[in-house]
Amino acid sequence: MAPLLDVRDLTVRFDTRDGTVQAVTGVTYSLEAGETLAVVGESGSGKSVHVLAMMGLIPKPPGRIAAGQALFEGRDLLTMSEKEMRDLRGGKIGMIFQDPMSSLNPVLTVGFQIVESLRRHLGLSKKAAWARAAELLDFVGIPEPQRRVKQYPHQFSGGMRQRAMIAIGIACEPKLLIADEPTTALDVTVQAQVLDLMRRLRKQLGMAMIWITHDMGVVAGIADNVQVMYGGRVQERGPARAVFHDTRSAYTWGLLHSLPDHDDPPAKFGEKGRRLVQIPGYPPDMTDPPKGDPFAPRNRFATERCHLEVPPLVQAADAAPGHLVAAWYDLRPLRAEAAVAGGAA
Ligand SMILES: Nc1ncnc2c1ncn2[C@@H]1O[C@H](COP(=O)(O)OP(=O)(O)OP(=O)(O)O)[C@@H](O)[C@H]1O
Ligand SMILES: [Mg+2]
Repeated sequence: MAPLLDVRDLTVRFDTRDGTVQAVTGVTYSLEAGETLAVVGESGSGKSVHVLAMMGLIPKPPGRIAAGQALFEGRDLLTMSEKEMRDLRGGKIGMIFQDPMSSLNPVLTVGFQIVESLRRHLGLSKKAAWARAAELLDFVGIPEPQRRVKQYPHQFSGGMRQRAMIAIGIACEPKLLIADEPTTALDVTVQAQVLDLMRRLRKQLGMAMIWITHDMGVVAGIADNVQVMYGGRVQERGPARAVFHDTRSAYTWGLLHSLPDHDDPPAKFGEKGRRLVQIPGYPPDMTDPPKGDPFAPRNRFATERCHLEVPPLVQAADAAPGHLVAAWYDLRPLRAEAAVAGGAA
């Protein structure tokens, strides 16, 4: 069966006064129905732009899709008309973003915003849509949904606004939910509740998810597969356990393991609230990225070839099926050394 989403060679550029930002280059992957893919990487690695581009949400100009396809149920999202795209957004594809205040309309009640989506995409009557909106608020754990449904976003606490965003994102029971750092602004308890909720929803609705996060605990708790991005490219992708326990990219290794420190022990699979580790050095200037592997300048295992030629993303040797890496070096013999020295970079 064809995958739900098939992204091929997605390449996004921003033409700015300071030059062309090579935000996303050659991103290729597929997502099966019901699958959860976590996308991780440092700030500026292209995580948000790659999903925004698929959803027709990057500003054009300065943005442009320089190459690629993103087939959703066989139709290319990148060449769809604005009307087709609007029919999909909030319908078969739900979205939740980091900052609920920028996504919720402050002058409309929370209920109205859900109702609008239900009427537009599912054609529900006014009455049925309002009843369903209250049900959805209840479903995401908002107390007194009948009263809350008539309130405005500013009357909600931060955690409740995030839940309201989730209610809107899942209102039409999407086949695919795209969540961009949806729990970052929440305190740890609320985060755990939201994650439980998402796991429940995924099961009940059978939806696939693309989950962008910096939190390795979240990744371990929710992802089937993990995609690690750097410099607008995919560095490593594979089943979550394989990427954690049989890491093949020095960049991934650097994100997972810091210098030994009692206050900052290495990440453990499944550990809650675990953030990505700081890697020494800085991400590249994407208007003038390195010629070869973008991570090479920060990678102490980089070979001469890493500096000259971009490595392709290929199945890693003797690794789990679907565990791909873009690297000219073999990290396996280097991992022990890296662990002793306390980091990859
Ligand atoms: N409108 C824009 N104009 C110019 N450059 C942009 C624009 N939007 C994004 N970029 C650039 O595209 C690159 C990728 O940005 P993106 O927002 O995808 O990063 P990210 O991985 O989501 O980071 P974060 O973790 O901080 O959210 C960055 O170099 C960013 O500066
Ligand atoms: Mg982002």
